[in-house]
Amino acid sequence: MDLQGILEEIAYALAPRAAAGAGKVADYIPALARVPAAHFGIALRTRDGHEAAAGDAHLAFSIQSISKLFTLTLAMQTLPDEELWQRIGREPSGNPFNSLIQLETERGIARNPFINAGAIAVADRLVTHGDAKRRVLALLSSLCGEAVVFDEEVAASEAATGYRNVALANFMKSFQRIDNPVESALDMYFHQCSIAMSCAQVARAAGYLCRDGAHPLEDGTQVVTDRQARRLNALMLTCGTYDAAGEFAYRIGLPCKSGVGGGIVAVVPDTLSLCVWSPGLDHSGNSALGMEALEMFVSATGLSVF
Ligand code: DON
Repeated sequence: MDLQGILEEIAYALAPRAAAGAGKVADYIPALARVPAAHFGIALRTRDGHEAAAGDAHLAFSIQSISKLFTLTLAMQTLPDEELWQRIGREPSGNPFNSLIQLETERGIARNPFINAGAIAVADRLVTHGDAKRRVLALLSSLCGEAVVFDEEVAASEAATGYRNVALANFMKSFQRIDNPVESALDMYFHQCSIAMSCAQVARAAGYLCRDGAHPLEDGTQVVTDRQARRLNALMLTCGTYDAAGEFAYRIGLPCKSGVGGGIVAVVPDTLSLCVWSPGLDHSGNSALGMEALEMFVSATGLSVF
């Protein structure tokens, strides 16, 4: 299959619509609000290491909630299952990513690790086990073979405006679901959201999810076990795109994880990982053209889990 040609066709069809301003760029912090809507990039890496890319695939963007996939991976590497899942569920929330509503009735237990509450709970566990910020950068740098860093301006703005995240963390703390001072868990969470990477880097970094947990670049190294990789893919499919998870499964049928920077990472199990970036978002906070691009990719290749 000519994967490079398919990505180029998708970029050719969608880049003009990005330039025309499809979707709405996140504007809750200045560093995201000033990103031009006109960007469109797409990249993939196959299970056996072939890479293809088109459009702005090598420009860094704010990965935001895509980081939740990698912090969960780190938590799976670090914590026994009982400890990890004690305070976090594995069910879709059907609510916006920053919703407070279920935490009240579910006594501070976040529905899943990909909504903000769940990711803050994961960040808290990583803080407990030490060196969390350095470890997430080390994991990502190792997975994509290039230095990955925080954008400190974005991290500071997230902290200055993250009132809902502060509320979520305090709410969970009131039920004794957060071990550390909320400031420490949130510092980790705000920094992970600020990580900047390109589509090519994200597609490569997610490579272990299409190769039974095996490191994309290092032969013989398991990032997670085969079983853990399957579970990460299952959680992405059911919870990775928030209240649009059903629509993503219906239209695309791939495990996906999105972020409000406009990136979406997707996995074709046993075959390839891919990442698309277009900053204009739809009403659920997922990249509007990113979703279309994935739909086009699935139609053109027939690659889907269904
Ligand atoms: O924590 C927040 O609300 C922002 N940093 C956005 C996180 C995010 O990307 C949610 N997903 N779409």
